[in-house]
Amino acid sequence: MPERKEKFYLTTPIYYTNGLPHLGHTYTTVVCDTVRRYKRMRGYDVVMTTGTDEHGVNVERAAKKAGIPEREFVANMAEAWRALWDELGITADEFVRTTDLEHVRTVQWLFKRCRENGYVYKGHYTGQYCIYDNAFVNDAKPGENCPDCGRPLETLTEENYFFKLSAFQKPLLDFYRKNPDFIQPESRRNEIVTFVQGGLKDLSITRTTIRWGIPVPGEEPHVFYVWFDALTAYLSAVGGPDYEKRGMWPADVHFVGKDIIRFHTVYWPAFLMAAMLPLPKQVWAHGWFLMDAAKMSKSKGNVVLPRPIANMLGMDALRYFMLREVVFGQDGNFSYDSLVTRYNSDLANGLGNLASRTAALIEKNFAGKVPKPAQRQPQDDALAKEAQSAIGEVLERYDKMEFARALEAIWAVIAAADKYLTTEQPWALGTSEEGQARKATILWTTAELLRIVAALAHPVLPDSTAKVWALLGQTTSLDSLELDGLRWGQLVPGTALGKSQTLFPRVEKTEAIERIESMANEELNSTSAAPKPASAPAAPATPAAAVGVPAVPDKIAIEDFAKVEMRVGQIKTAERIVGADKLLKLTVDIGTEIRQICAGIAQYYEPEALIGRKVAVVVNLAPRKLRGVESNGMIIAASVGPEGRPVLAGFLEDVEVGARLK
Ligand code: MSP
Repeated sequence: MPERKEKFYLTTPIYYTNGLPHLGHTYTTVVCDTVRRYKRMRGYDVVMTTGTDEHGVNVERAAKKAGIPEREFVANMAEAWRALWDELGITADEFVRTTDLEHVRTVQWLFKRCRENGYVYKGHYTGQYCIYDNAFVNDAKPGENCPDCGRPLETLTEENYFFKLSAFQKPLLDFYRKNPDFIQPESRRNEIVTFVQGGLKDLSITRTTIRWGIPVPGEEPHVFYVWFDALTAYLSAVGGPDYEKRGMWPADVHFVGKDIIRFHTVYWPAFLMAAMLPLPKQVWAHGWFLMDAAKMSKSKGNVVLPRPIANMLGMDALRYFMLREVVFGQDGNFSYDSLVTRYNSDLANGLGNLASRTAALIEKNFAGKVPKPAQRQPQDDALAKEAQSAIGEVLERYDKMEFARALEAIWAVIAAADKYLTTEQPWALGTSEEGQARKATILWTTAELLRIVAALAHPVLPDSTAKVWALLGQTTSLDSLELDGLRWGQLVPGTALGKSQTLFPRVEKTEAIERIESMANEELNSTSAAPKPASAPAAPATPAAAVGVPAVPDKIAIEDFAKVEMRVGQIKTAERIVGADKLLKLTVDIGTEIRQICAGIAQYYEPEALIGRKVAVVVNLAPRKLRGVESNGMIIAASVGPEGRPVLAGFLEDVEVGARLK
């Protein structure tokens, strides 16, 4: 452990504000939050930065589309990101926005330093530019599509300031050689070294075609290009030009996705070298979370949202899944099925069950007080040894960012304790003096093991381990526990257990998935609208109005209403969907065509009774999938009573199928 508090500065990327967080962004942020918690428990003075990347053409366009000024647009989005992280229990210390004055000042200062040192010049650049990714695509030909996102590229010529990246080939290669841990994992390091060895072209770092950016002082209309602006956020978050005062720079680790590693390991150190500033110590690139083997993105319609999962299973479950299921650094597949399977097996049946079993036995046999262990037997010592040696192993795994391995080691200890209880059967020992003594040893041993598990798993499962901690009667905060002092044998007999509670209630898989998906659909539909217009009041602090759920304005214009096309439809067929209790699959005649529509009315309407019924249908909703079944429209129903019972809207007179509702 460091003698005096040593600093540790870590960062997530700063996220684009033209969308809201999905599981991919949540992954980087959860990793960072886990390491932040871990380093704190190792006695470091830790600062974690996250934030929003708010400039560029995409924001300009999105704001225009939303009909509000850019500044207001990004303020709303930044608030939505910040609020979601808060809601998910992410504990960043700094939230940097690239529109912050402090950041603007830092970017301009960095540029000045690079220029004074002779690494900046003015020139012209023509290239193929992807406005979606905010990047020129090297070697692309006019008319080609972006290799990353598949969108058409645009040919762009403009006067730019250039950064002499070419001058840094050798310094960078030297730096990588002297700092073999700078780029992680190893495979990425090789990729970058090869790239740099291939030669570096100078980099355009300003634009004149973009309005929404940080101005280059005295050189308007030049504004900074997105990466010179964005990367500098790491520095502006901890003091900018006055970074020495705060004492946090250089960063100890930048966590990034593999798609942005080059910017972080080539451009960023080169900018800093040019400005003669200290370089970050490490860049850790993780893989992608894939959904149906494709990277998650809103445009592909395959995004997974964190909030519905957290609402259904708890944020700890999502954190556990992300860190346990995927080897850090590699790509991983996401599926609701494996998420819920892991939840039930590892959390409900594993940790949750061990905690409740132990507490119940202590409650019953020792009036809720941790018993004093009596004579130990070899199997008690064996378990103690296993838990004690797990401490060392888990810390080592965390140090190497091997989260899955760390969790595996912790869960091996949980499994050993389960087995121990099953073999020792404390419940079958009588109440004789001897029986009580043996029970005391067994239950103290299990409780002590749980205490160690709670401490070790805390960085990943902050909420539920704090509950285990309280259940074991521990009154100190688990956040401030120093892992270096953690040893077998510290659980004090006589400690009164805290209130018992179910940590992870078991869930029925199909129902859980259905609920998560329906919450996700609801959220996606409500956030597909742009942020609030200028006149809308700031979002109140009610859960419904929190992140990404734009407040419904008091009044909307008739043009807004006209966007919704509703027609009279007639139900032709109706059937239940296997595995989805609430959904019916309907085919509906809307006059011009027959549509397949899923409706969440299965608990209240018999399919047969619906045939021939005339209903109001929203016909211009984007198609979406519900439980894997495509739905092409929405049937209008009143939501009645606290349970939201659906009552289909209908017509008192006969109406023609296909008639428009106005
Ligand atoms: N604004 C830039 C970063 C600037 S940092 C100085 C950016 N933003 S982003 O919002 O597009 O993405 C941020 C991070 O989210 C990236 O590290 C990216 O890899 C990560 N993810 C986005 N989708 C992802 C998955 N599906 N899976 C895992 N992470 C992915 O890039």
